[in-house]
Amino acid sequence: MLSVVILISGRGSNMASLLAAADAGTLPVRVAGVLANRSDAGGLETAAACGVPTRVVDHRQFATREDFDAAMATAIDAFSPDLVVLAGFMRILGAAFVRNYHGRLINIHPSLLPSFPGLHTHARALAEGVRIHGCTVHFVTPDLDHGPIIVQAAVPVLDGDSEETLAARVLAQEHQLYPLAVRWFSEGRLRLCAGRVVLDSPQLDSGALIAPQTSAR
Ligand code: GRF
Repeated sequence: MLSVVILISGRGSNMASLLAAADAGTLPVRVAGVLANRSDAGGLETAAACGVPTRVVDHRQFATREDFDAAMATAIDAFSPDLVVLAGFMRILGAAFVRNYHGRLINIHPSLLPSFPGLHTHARALAEGVRIHGCTVHFVTPDLDHGPIIVQAAVPVLDGDSEETLAARVLAQEHQLYPLAVRWFSEGRLRLCAGRVVLDSPQLDSGALIAPQTSAR
């Protein structure tokens, strides 16, 4: 079974959605470990309660970004994962780290990329007056919140939305989207082709997702 390591910085609700899907048997992966860059990340307790090993690599203990990245890579590699999943991991990882995990490092971002990379996506979406917002799962490249898009989910922006109501609507989609993307990866159905993601055998899935370019293979 495919082995996965999840990196978090906070409450870990996306991590929890992956653990729940794996537990329910709808996501055929083994979550080998959960790593955080902060010891107060709430998700660490959730992971431990699920019997998943946890480690903290505190970025404040390292003089340089490169030193932190190296320590994080050592902690990840101790689990020999097939896939590294960033789930609310709030540190920028350097180009060497990202290249080392090329094709097996994915992230979820709370906007329809390439709109609104970076922080405060929901507030910025409201300020711009967009009518559609959402979330994106993508392969990670050295550019922040950029990389081949695996799948997106869209939500309406409603009159009267606050940052909180919009964030909650997007988060509910994130919790569906990330297990789906990881399942596709685990099934070997994601191919990178000319910098874009191709999903093999799309007929295996139904639903109104904004899915990648597809192939009937
Ligand atoms: C999510 O909105 C995720 O897209 C973003 O940070 C948030 C993390 O939430 N990168 P959680 O820790 O998974 O609950």
